[in-house]
Amino acid sequence: MLRQAVELHRTGQLDAAEAFYRRALQTQAGQPDALHFLGVLCHQRGRSDEGIRLIRMALRATPLHADAHNNLGNIHKETGELAEAEACYRQALACHGQHHDALSNLALVLETQERFEEALQAYVKLLEEAPQLSLAHYLMGMYLRRHVNEIGDLEQAVACFRDAIRCDASNVRALDALGVTLYMLGRQDEAVGAYRDWLVREPENPVPRHMLAACGGEVAPPRADDAYVREVFDRFAESFDEQLLKNLDYRAPQVLVGALIGVLGVAEGALDVLDAGCGTGLCGPLIRPHARRLDGVDLSGGMLDKARLRGGYDELAVAELTAYLQDHPEAWDVVLSADTLVYFGDLAEVLAATSAALRAGGRVAFTLEAMEGDQDRPVLASSGRYRHARGYVERVLDAAGFVEVSIAPSALRKEVGQPVNGWVVLARKRGHGFG
Ligand SMILES: C[S@@+](CC[C@H](N)C(=O)[O-])C[C@H]1O[C@@H](n2cnc3c(N)ncnc32)[C@H](O)[C@@H]1O
Repeated sequence: MLRQAVELHRTGQLDAAEAFYRRALQTQAGQPDALHFLGVLCHQRGRSDEGIRLIRMALRATPLHADAHNNLGNIHKETGELAEAEACYRQALACHGQHHDALSNLALVLETQERFEEALQAYVKLLEEAPQLSLAHYLMGMYLRRHVNEIGDLEQAVACFRDAIRCDASNVRALDALGVTLYMLGRQDEAVGAYRDWLVREPENPVPRHMLAACGGEVAPPRADDAYVREVFDRFAESFDEQLLKNLDYRAPQVLVGALIGVLGVAEGALDVLDAGCGTGLCGPLIRPHARRLDGVDLSGGMLDKARLRGGYDELAVAELTAYLQDHPEAWDVVLSADTLVYFGDLAEVLAATSAALRAGGRVAFTLEAMEGDQDRPVLASSGRYRHARGYVERVLDAAGFVEVSIAPSALRKEVGQPVNGWVVLARKRGHGFG
């Protein structure tokens, strides 16, 4: 029964697996493996407290079970109890000195607690103990890249990712990291090679396809593919706020909403507002005082789950932005979009749809990444995001029926420690409506 439960668990049939674990426990009360795995399953289903209780019961019967200590650590880590997680990983290592998962988890949890020196020691120890383990090289590379401003070195990180791929050519996380790090170093030609290798491994994956185009290895699409956006942001949703606010100095929501409020005036809570590409909802609380109704739309369900938790929106829709706007004629007084149209090269269609979705006199406010000069064609940069020239934006806004256009330069985020120049764009739909 336990074997069957484990197989069902492994293949993601969680209802059936849970039933089988429970039946195994009815047959043999306190069976430690059943308790341990049922604990992991409970956590996966959002019942972390029950999971912790079950694994602790298992550990009372088998106190030297390193995997159970490690899994208990993982639950604590994912519920934000970092000190408890650390203690569990140390217990796992006390039971089994060469438990590589526990050691890599310990390193990560030390790093999350900003105990960088101890974290580095743990990453080094893992590499010494397991020089053939692809994960060990990958984690060291990621550590060096994250700490590029202090001890890190991107060249060394590249070497680590190449070693990770040498140990295991199917480690696509290492191929991904290698591609990104090479573009950070400005070595686009080599990044193209990494993305080609990744595509050979995963021909259906939209991420290497998009990044290959971004590095000049293929023709750029008019906008990022829906599947690419979904894949990237569903994966990013959990760490988005922390990453952007802490590591990238992300200011687009504050700067954009600040500029918008400058033209909207005193908050009267009277406007119907759409946050287009709302992500985790960072703009929501900033614009809420001006809104009678606040809607959000985004392609990524993972990002929207976070926005739902943050609260403040009347409705959140998982949809592609242009299609969603086209389905809602004259629905809003304001459409704002922070750091989302950077995933669009050609802005003509989305801005025409925005114009149609606004009431007469309505306002649009959005940010872009800036391209100097007056190129009429947007460029897909090797970051995977598009850049637009001022003249192009003016022309497209004019064609879409916008007036009172203002395009102000502003640094809205950092990349590789350097500010990325952006545009903060405000415009008003022709005609007399509100305000
Ligand atoms: C960098 S995030 C910005 C999120 C939010 N506006 C903020 O400032 O925190 C970009 C968001 O745009 C969304 N996005 C990109 N292209 C989209 C499209 N075509 N339709 C809907 N959402 C899109 C992504 O899913 C992601 O959540």
